Amino acid sequence: MTIEKRIVLSSDHAAIALRQSVADHVAKQGWEVIDIGPTSPESTHYPLHGKAAAEAVASGDCQLGIILCGTGQGIMMAANKVPGIRCGVCSDTFSARMIRQHNDANMLSIGARVVGEGTALDIVDAFLSAEFEGGRHATRVDMIEA
Ligand code: RB5
Repeated sequence: MTIEKRIVLSSDHAAIALRQSVADHVAKQGWEVIDIGPTSPESTHYPLHGKAAAEAVASGDCQLGIILCGTGQGIMMAANKVPGIRCGVCSDTFSARMIRQHNDANMLSIGARVVGEGTALDIVDAFLSAEFEGGRHATRVDMIEA
């Protein structure tokens, strides 16, 4: 069963501080935050953390997920290997809105070495406030899944 307003967060070592900011930000908006770490600043492997967050979304335990690494790219690639995950890297609010409206993205990836905290939180807001438009976009999302 999908829990409304439960969101999973993860990152690698490059994005721990920004992940904490995102966690605080979305918690203030009423989201139940499942932050699966890591907490240590030691170097780690982003595929592990992308996969773990993606599985929490794919299983239905969390409605959405936000993942972060240095560029947002590597952890996004790992997450997208999990069936049912549609994750985009965003460095701007337009893209963050559109990946929800047109691509029905269920995960957002952000590069902590690419955008500053203010932009990152705006990107998060754009992603969380947008809704999938369905219609012709549903046909295309179905094609992705197939
Ligand atoms: C870690 O140095 C870095 O490679 C990682 O955070 C990410 O940018 C990979 O895509």
